[in-house]
Amino acid sequence: MIYFNTERGIFYGKSVGGLFFGKTIVPFATSGSSGIGDSGKNLAAIAKGARVEEGARFKANISEDKLREWAGAWMQVAD
Ligand SMILES: Cc1cc2nc3c(=O)[nH]c(=O)nc-3n(C[C@H](O)[C@H](O)[C@H](O)COP(=O)(O)O)c2cc1C
Repeated sequence: MIYFNTERGIFYGKSVGGLFFGKTIVPFATSGSSGIGDSGKNLAAIAKGARVEEGARFKANISEDKLREWAGAWMQVAD
């Protein structure tokens, strides 16, 4: 979710440290109108050693099916 023009994460804090080392993160967010902005860059700064893809922003009322379809394609890439 984009919240006052930037991302809001559930795992923000120093504890995230190396949790995502060697992992690929694909950020995505819903928003009323704002773009995804610097969310990926901000995540990359926190998640050391992770590869952060560009990700995508979806409108707030995107359907679950559409989101599943998008996320599903990434799951296959990750295998
Ligand atoms: C406090 C607050 C701030 C928000 N700020 C923005 C914003 O800066 N830009 C934007 O496009 N949408 C903003 N929104 C709209 C949310 O991004 C939108 O409602 C959200 O994507 C819905 O996601 P959810 O169904 O996961 O709650 C804001 C919503 C709230 C409650």
